[in-house]
Amino acid sequence: MRIYSRILGTGSYLPEKRLTNADLAAELSQQGVETSDDWIIERTGIRARHFAADTQGSSDLATEAARQALTAAGISAEELDLIIVATSTPDMVFPSVATMVQHKLGTAGCPAFDVQAVCSGFIYALTIADSMIQSGSAKRALVIGSEVFSRILDFKDRTTCVLFGDGAGAVILEASEQPGILATDLHADGKYKDILCVPGHVNRGGILGDPVLKMDGQAVFKLAVGVLEETARASLAKANMTDADIDWLIPHQANIRIMQSTARKLRMSPDKVVVTVDQHGNTSAASIPLALDTAVRDGRIQRGQTLMLEGVGGGFTWGSVLLRY
Ligand code: ACO
Repeated sequence: MRIYSRILGTGSYLPEKRLTNADLAAELSQQGVETSDDWIIERTGIRARHFAADTQGSSDLATEAARQALTAAGISAEELDLIIVATSTPDMVFPSVATMVQHKLGTAGCPAFDVQAVCSGFIYALTIADSMIQSGSAKRALVIGSEVFSRILDFKDRTTCVLFGDGAGAVILEASEQPGILATDLHADGKYKDILCVPGHVNRGGILGDPVLKMDGQAVFKLAVGVLEETARASLAKANMTDADIDWLIPHQANIRIMQSTARKLRMSPDKVVVTVDQHGNTSAASIPLALDTAVRDGRIQRGQTLMLEGVGGGFTWGSVLLRY
C-alpha cells in the first residue's frame, strides 16, 4: 500500500504593519525615491504588503503560522516528528529557524532544519517532508515558509523595494493511505546566480559585499515564465494527469503577469489561480503557503480537489508539487 503525505491543516501569519502602494510611495518620496501606485499595480499587480516589526524575526512569524496550522489540524506540537522551515531570511546565521520554532512551540526532540531555496523554498521543503513521510522516517511534519524580506531590501532601489513583503505560511502533513501529494518535481541551475541575489555576507564581525537584494527583473521574468510551465507539466506527467485535472493553481506570488502567463500556458482560466500578490507582495518562500491558507480559509479550496503548487526563485531554483487536498 502506497503511503501518501496528506495536508491535515494550514495556517498563516502577516505582520501588523500594512503599507499600501500609496503609503510606501510616500515613505520613499521622503528619501528622494519616486514611485507610484499606478506603476506598481500595472507592472506587478501588487497593491499592499506587510512589514515585520523590528522586534520580529522569521521564527516569530513562522511560530504564529505554525500555531494556526496545528489548531486547524487538531494536533499538538508534541505530536510532530519533523519540522522544516523554508527561509532565506533567518533570524541568525545559526541555529536554524526551525529549531527556534520547535522551542517556541514548547516541544523538543524531533528533527528540525531549514531549507534555503529562496522563492522555491516551500516547494523544496514540502518535497523533502513528503520523501521522509513516504520512506517511513516521519509521520507528522510541520512545513513552513517564513520570510522577513524587508530586512534585505534596498529602499533606495525602486525597481526592487516595491515588490516584496513579509509573512509566513505553514502546513501540517500526515502519513495517510488516502491520496495527498501525488507528484513532485525539483530543479536548480546555478549559472543564474547573478540575476537575483543578496551578495553580502558576514565576515569577521562585519559585512563583506552588499547585503541587499539585487535583481535583473526582465531576465527573471523570462526565466520564470518558461520553467513554471515546464515543472507543472513534469509533475502532471509523473501522476499521469493533464492540465485539465487541476482545480487550483497556487503559484509563487511574485508578479500577476507571470501568474497569468503560466495559467494561459496551462489552459487554465484566471479565476482558477489563487492570487494573493495584490495584498501580500512577494513574500518569497512564504508566498505559496500564505496563498494556500488564504484559499482554504475563504472556502475556495475544498477537500478532494487537485492543487498545483509551483515556485521559482534565486539560484535559480524551481519546482512543483501536485496534490489532492
Ligand atoms: N516606480 C516607478 N518607475 C519604476 C519603478 C518603480 N517602482 N521601477 C522601475 N521603474 C521605471 C524604470 O526606471 C524604467 O524607467 P525608464 O524607462 O525611464 O528607464 C521603467 O520603469 C521600466 O522599467 P523596467 O525594469 O523595464 O520595467 P518592467 O516592465 O520590466 O517591470 C519588474 C519591472 C516589475 C521588476 C518586472 O521586470 C518583473 O516583474 N520581473 C520579474 C521579477 C520578479 O518577479 N522578481 C521577484 C523575485 S524573483 C521571484 O520571486 C521568482
